[in-house]
Amino acid sequence: MNEIKPQDLHGILGLGKTQFEILYRLSQLLNRVTYPDSLIEEALDLVVAAIHAERGLFVRWEEAENRFSIIAARNVNREKITDLSEFSSGILQKVIAEKQPCVYHNVQSDPQFSQFESVLLHSIQSVVGVPIVYRGQIWGVILADSRENRQEFTEENLVFLDFFSNLVSLALDKIIRFEELERENQILRNRLQAAQPLPDMIGESAPMRLLAALIQRVARTDATVLILGESGTGKELAAHAIHKLSARAKNPYLAQFCGSIPDTLLESELFGYKKGAFTGAAADKKGLFEVAGGGTFFLDEIGDVSLALQAKLLRVLQNQEIIRLGDTKAMKVNVRIITATNQDLKQLVQKGKFREDLFYRLNVFPITLPPLRDRREDIPLLAQFFIRKYAGRDVALHPEALKKLHQHPWPGNVRQLENALQRALILCDGDKLLPEHLIPEDAEANDPKTFKGSLKELEKQLLLSRLEKFNGNRTRVAQSLGVSVRWVQLKLKEWDS
Ligand SMILES: Nc1ncnc2c1ncn2[C@@H]1O[C@H](COP(=O)(O)OP(=O)(O)OP(=O)(O)O)[C@@H](O)[C@H]1O
Ligand SMILES: [Mg+2]
Repeated sequence: MNEIKPQDLHGILGLGKTQFEILYRLSQLLNRVTYPDSLIEEALDLVVAAIHAERGLFVRWEEAENRFSIIAARNVNREKITDLSEFSSGILQKVIAEKQPCVYHNVQSDPQFSQFESVLLHSIQSVVGVPIVYRGQIWGVILADSRENRQEFTEENLVFLDFFSNLVSLALDKIIRFEELERENQILRNRLQAAQPLPDMIGESAPMRLLAALIQRVARTDATVLILGESGTGKELAAHAIHKLSARAKNPYLAQFCGSIPDTLLESELFGYKKGAFTGAAADKKGLFEVAGGGTFFLDEIGDVSLALQAKLLRVLQNQEIIRLGDTKAMKVNVRIITATNQDLKQLVQKGKFREDLFYRLNVFPITLPPLRDRREDIPLLAQFFIRKYAGRDVALHPEALKKLHQHPWPGNVRQLENALQRALILCDGDKLLPEHLIPEDAEANDPKTFKGSLKELEKQLLLSRLEKFNGNRTRVAQSLGVSVRWVQLKLKEWDS
């Protein structure tokens, strides 16, 4: 910061009442707790007015790049000036070189300045320039100029500008420190959020970190979440993680599998019934929505729910109320709903198998779990985790076995990896899991008996696994499948788009 030297005292004594008043207003302006974007402009207007200048400029000096950038520039009518070449860069350089306030008169006839185009162009006569010093370095410059030969640009004005610059330096200190802290805080918060693993979910790959951040965010709300993703990607784990991270964590978490369950059974499970509602209903029974009160309810395989039951689910989502089977009055329930499916709900809507209104109610916050083949870097961690879980002893993974795991296409995702390791551990007696303990890849990946997907998906998985097997050599893949190389290329292109 600029220091007040004894000789300045003379100048201070010479400051007029108006100038003191302006300094006072400035100090108030700069001492605000928060700074509006217009702060510098307002301050510059005060300067221009105080020293009867015509224009004012506030620039940042970027030493490393040897250039100035405008923070604010104003004319006497408080109009913005955006072009730095309107001002004399020669004079700015001079202030930087001298490192102290400078005042120049008659610059038109002063050979050191008259060569500057801007001086000529604007017929500048008088200029004052004051450096702004921040932590011992020149941070920027305030410049004010006039076309008239302003004898008001006096030494006394320099003292005034020096004060101004000191005040700005103080404010800058506060602003910059505050911005630094804010930035640091944001970085730490991001890091904390990204570093916080999801309960029971293994994975540190970029897709998993992204997923963790999304889940952490949505867990803090009561929003309905739709979890999408291929079979075995961990949809159920994700639903539970949302509950565990939410404010409802201490209340119940209930899950209901909705696939291939008779409608009436599913309905009585979800909504409960009144005594005598049907034969065998010997007493009132609470439905799961009621039991989950205050907590979270996870409906798995929501795409399998019948249209009739979909209408009833819609009421739960719209009005937060249920009606027990055989009852007439509605009951309020307080549950957060999470659903999951590996079907394309939009397509089901188009086919008339899924209510569009329900789809939109469920699709408030969709989360898609990445398939394992898109996050292969998590395979070693997952493998270790499952070995510890199933071996109950220390078993090392032979590098070749790990390589084999790495290369597998994993159409059944984490569940398939988990099963493969569980089986391998049964076959392995020693303390080393070898490649031969792992079941041949194709046998499992493409076994039509266990494969649940469509023909297209089977085709894709078969092709992907062959690509893995032949290290991406398309000619050999085509040979092994009995198709042309062109066909392989076309398929890959089709999936890429
Ligand atoms: N990130 C993970 N970390 C550890 N285990 C996982 C992870 N993802 C999935 N699993 C395990 O894989 C198996 C399948 O997970 P989950 O049942 O959640 O999958 P899903 O997506 O619901 O599959 P589906 O669509 O077939 O129901 C479970 O045993 C689960 O514990
Ligand atoms: Mg599931």
